[in-house]
Amino acid sequence: MLKDSFGRPVTSLRVSITQRCNFSCRYCHREGSREAHGREMTPEEIERVVRIAARLGVRKVKLTGGEPLLRQDVTEVVRRVSRVEGVEEVSMTTNGYLLEEYARSLRRAGLKRVNVSLDTTDAEKFRWLTGGMRVERVLAGIRAALEAGLKPVKINMVVMRGINHEEVMKMLGLFSGTDTVLQLIELVPGNGEFFRKYFYELDELEAEIARHAKAVRRRRFMHLRTQYQLNGARVEFVKPMHNSQFCAHCTRLRITADGRFKPCLMREDNLVDFLTPMRKGASDEELEELLRRAVSERKPFFS
Ligand code: 5AD
Ligand code: SF4
Repeated sequence: MLKDSFGRPVTSLRVSITQRCNFSCRYCHREGSREAHGREMTPEEIERVVRIAARLGVRKVKLTGGEPLLRQDVTEVVRRVSRVEGVEEVSMTTNGYLLEEYARSLRRAGLKRVNVSLDTTDAEKFRWLTGGMRVERVLAGIRAALEAGLKPVKINMVVMRGINHEEVMKMLGLFSGTDTVLQLIELVPGNGEFFRKYFYELDELEAEIARHAKAVRRRRFMHLRTQYQLNGARVEFVKPMHNSQFCAHCTRLRITADGRFKPCLMREDNLVDFLTPMRKGASDEELEELLRRAVSERKPFFS
């Protein structure tokens, strides 16, 4: 298994397959990469880099964006990636807008699960946050994903002070008894001014939920995340900010939509371009070397 110099195994890969998005969320960090080449990897290129990573021990692949469902060939990407030897789980993070149309074909192509972003169910607030989109379509997308068996559906809720921090319990109630996990996410800086205004630390809320929760489960290779069960719902907290535990248990390597390895979400200065060499005819061995170099660049951002 591939480990970085801090002993962290690299078992999961987060692949952005497009920078394009049909939403323009006020807080979007664009997966931490604002300056892209504008090029996109083909399904074959994505499959190839995933195969190389899988040979080195990667077992989980998450497809992200931008919005991955904007790619016309998204089901082909899923099909190719899910057939790579060694890959055990392919999932996707989506804003849910096109999910109602795509859920069944994604499932047939081999997708296991989806994460759907949903910060509020208030139509007006949702429009304000996303640049004019309709929350109803996202809710329909979530239902379609559950029906198609893309389970459990993880609901990503970024908690923001004064916007939705008082909506958490309502959200829990909404998904209670369904095969979902509510992930409460701390805002990370993407848009600086927005961050200063709305950052909401989740420690207190987590302590509160922990007091009332029934069962807990620790997920060691997922940033040591704890899962709580409360009133028929499951909840997790994602607290990356100034959290050395988050970094110490990070097992993830990122790939940008324009074909670069990205060792850390929080950093822009140590990306490793593999798509240029790949297009110039680099061998698998040479590409593997680039991946190893990116892994050797991995170090905890908060420590
Ligand atoms: N802070 C926290 N989460 C973010 N996301 C996008 N930008 C940010 C940010 N600044 C989340 C979205 C979605 C996933 C793609 O990343 O909410 O769930
Ligand atoms: Fe960014 Fe995701 Fe919102 Fe698109 S849906 S703008 S990628 S946070």
